[in-house]
Amino acid sequence: MEKNMGSSTLYYLFMFMRFLVLLSGFHLMVTDSSPSVVQHPLCHGSDSSALLEFKQSFLIEKFASGDPSAYPKVEMWQPEREGSDCCSWDGVECDTNNGHVIGLDLSSSCLYGSINSSSSLFRLVHLLRLDLSDNDFNYSKIPHGVGQLSRLTSLNLSSSRFSGQISSQILELSKLVFLDLSSNPLHLHKPNLRNLVVNLTQLKKLHLNEVNISSRVPDVFANLSSLTSLLLENCGLHGEFPTGIFHLSSLQFLSVRNNPDLTGLFPEFHHTSSLKLLALAGTSFSGRLPTSIGNLDSLVELNISSCNFTSGLIPSSLGRLIQLTSLDLSRNSFSGQIPSLSNLKELDTLDLSYNQFIGEIPSWLMNLTRLRRLYLAGNRLEGPIPSSLFGLVNLQCLYLESNYLNGTVDLNILSEMKNLIELQLSNNSLSLLSSININATTLPTFKALGLNSCNVTVFPDFLQNQDELEVLLLRQNKIHGPIPKWLWNTSKETLAYIDLSHNFLTGFDQNHPVVLPWSRLRILDLSYNMLQGFLPIPPQSQRMN
Ligand SMILES: *[C@@H]1O[C@H](CO)[C@@H](O)[C@H](O)[C@H]1NC(C)=O
Ligand SMILES: *[C@@H]1O[C@H](CO)[C@@H](O)[C@H](O)[C@H]1NC(C)=O
Ligand SMILES: *[C@@H]1O[C@H](CO)[C@@H](O)[C@H](O)[C@H]1NC(C)=O
Ligand SMILES: *[C@@H]1O[C@H](CO)[C@@H](O)[C@H](O)[C@H]1NC(C)=O
Ligand SMILES: *[C@@H]1O[C@H](CO)[C@@H](O)[C@H](O)[C@H]1NC(C)=O
Ligand SMILES: *[C@@H]1O[C@H](CO)[C@@H](O)[C@H](O)[C@H]1NC(C)=O
Ligand SMILES: *[C@@H]1O[C@H](CO)[C@@H](O)[C@H](O)[C@H]1NC(C)=O
Ligand SMILES: *[C@@H]1O[C@H](CO)[C@@H](O)[C@H](O)[C@H]1NC(C)=O
Ligand SMILES: *[C@@H]1O[C@H](CO)[C@@H](O)[C@H](O)[C@H]1NC(C)=O
Ligand SMILES: *[C@@H]1O[C@H](CO)[C@@H](O)[C@H](O)[C@H]1NC(C)=O
Ligand SMILES: *[C@@H]1O[C@H](CO)[C@@H](O)[C@H](O)[C@H]1NC(C)=O
Ligand SMILES: *[C@@H]1O[C@H](CO)[C@@H](O)[C@H](O)[C@H]1NC(C)=O
Repeated sequence: MEKNMGSSTLYYLFMFMRFLVLLSGFHLMVTDSSPSVVQHPLCHGSDSSALLEFKQSFLIEKFASGDPSAYPKVEMWQPEREGSDCCSWDGVECDTNNGHVIGLDLSSSCLYGSINSSSSLFRLVHLLRLDLSDNDFNYSKIPHGVGQLSRLTSLNLSSSRFSGQISSQILELSKLVFLDLSSNPLHLHKPNLRNLVVNLTQLKKLHLNEVNISSRVPDVFANLSSLTSLLLENCGLHGEFPTGIFHLSSLQFLSVRNNPDLTGLFPEFHHTSSLKLLALAGTSFSGRLPTSIGNLDSLVELNISSCNFTSGLIPSSLGRLIQLTSLDLSRNSFSGQIPSLSNLKELDTLDLSYNQFIGEIPSWLMNLTRLRRLYLAGNRLEGPIPSSLFGLVNLQCLYLESNYLNGTVDLNILSEMKNLIELQLSNNSLSLLSSININATTLPTFKALGLNSCNVTVFPDFLQNQDELEVLLLRQNKIHGPIPKWLWNTSKETLAYIDLSHNFLTGFDQNHPVVLPWSRLRILDLSYNMLQGFLPIPPQSQRMN
């Protein structure tokens, strides 16, 4: 008995020592090969099989993602072998304490296929962050199973072809801080926007662009004191926009663009605002632009294009918004002189087109040296184009059409504007100086050139050197004689729209039918000329149309 006991004690002691040796051996092995495994627990088998099952339920298709840098993150996921840990898989994030999968980022991963509540995804109940944006879920509904992921703080399903009514289970995700369901053919009717806002009180970012909401914007939004970003573009919103939202002091990004039935007024703004983006374009906001808009010290982008702001001056306090890079006041009824905005040294885009501005083009515009896009079309601006404007060497787009500008334009003045690709001078009282002395090699390379009603008398020779034109407008000029042969070699790969109507053109400078050379041509307007002889033959690619 004693002997037996002794021998069994010895046996256990032996086994225990062997175990220790094994342990230390294991320890040595893992420290040598991959120290991180020692610090972090391995991924759980159940998580790993849920991930693999999820992977298996989709096809990998390049077309499923729009981002050019998309790639299938799941491709490298392999069943667990020795040393393979799902916590190290692309797009997978684990809790460093307990090894549970807490983050899954499969954005732009070329996933294509349907998903429903039986998906193994919903077994990953420890998930805090889930990003499936920019894939193709084949118009699946957002599965009810999403309610099981009750710890989620961040959910991004944008641009993923989810469709139908948004599942009410989303209201159970009361910890959500970031929610992005933008750019899907989704509805938010039952539950509605108010239900969402009442339940998801932690929200900082709510992005529902292009989701069909078709409701008023509920007042309770003003209770979301943590909100930093609210994007509700093109959602069919209507009714009066609650002013309280403008006063949320954390709010940095606010866009309700393209909700034509949404009405509202600007409130008085305070210096406490954090707003960087304010975009109300394409709504029915009305009233005046308050002087206090100058208190929005952080504002970087202001877009109130195509609203119902009533005629009136724009406040000179706009000039205090020195961080502005983009200012779009186009398509309202603003009037009077353009007030000096010359402090706005950061401006990249200035759009004042289609208002009622009067006076000359202000020469202080030359001080906005970073401008890349300037739109002043469709106002009542008069006088000559100030030559200082052509010193804005970063300009890419210059739109001055449909004003009362007069005087002559010598295109040589564009020789320093190497970045200019779109120039629109049509429908003023301008007179293009004869092109004979233009040094064609120093002109910018245009994509769009608008010279309707510019008193052009001969076909501008410099066009021979333009090989990237997409739009060429020479309507309503005084161009006589045949269309020069060199035109058939101009921008053959790119020209899509040519308007030569309302001139005195007589023909095609050759005595056989012309096969039009432009492979992308959509419109060639030759009406109201004096053409005789053969009709031109549309390009090969267009003949079936
Ligand atoms: C996509 O949906 C259509 C229609 O419901 C279905 O026929 C097709 O099999 C689905 N494709 C995939 C990959 O799930
Ligand atoms: C859910 O989708 C799987 C395939 O991913 C399918 O086998 C199953 O039948 C679907 N369940 C329901 C209820 O539609
Ligand atoms: C969601 O994902 C898209 C594309 O992957 C990204 O552009 C967007 O900023 C994300 N949304 C949030 C709220 O982070
Ligand atoms: C909304 O939140 C409350 C409290 O968190 C919860 O009891 C309720 O179930 C939620 N509503 C829905 C529809 O999930
Ligand atoms: C949005 O949903 C409403 C109600 O179902 C519908 O009448 C409307 O046509 C939808 N709008 C769009 C743009 O699909
Ligand atoms: C919103 O805030 C107001 C005032 O703080 C409060 O009376 C109201 O009950 C809140 N609404 C909700 C839905 O929380
Ligand atoms: C302002 O918003 C309108 C409507 O969405 C858009 O077309 C325009 O490009 C925006 N302007 C700028 C400068 O981004
Ligand atoms: C806004 O202006 C448009 C066109 O100018 C007009 O049709 C619409 O009725 C106006 N909306 C409001 C609310 O004034
Ligand atoms: C524009 O810049 C010039 C030269 O830097 C300066 O003399 C002039 O005062 C500025 N004009 C305005 C209106 O700020
Ligand atoms: C331009 O128009 C103004 C009146 O608006 C006139 O005084 C001036 O002489 C015109 N200049 C030229 C060059 O036609
Ligand atoms: C048009 O140009 C011709 C010379 O090419 C000039 O005589 C005439 O005054 C110009 N017309 C206008 C309206 O500027
Ligand atoms: C056109 O400009 C180029 C470059 O500045 C120059 O080399 C060339 O001599 C000029 N040609 C004429 C005809 O002035």
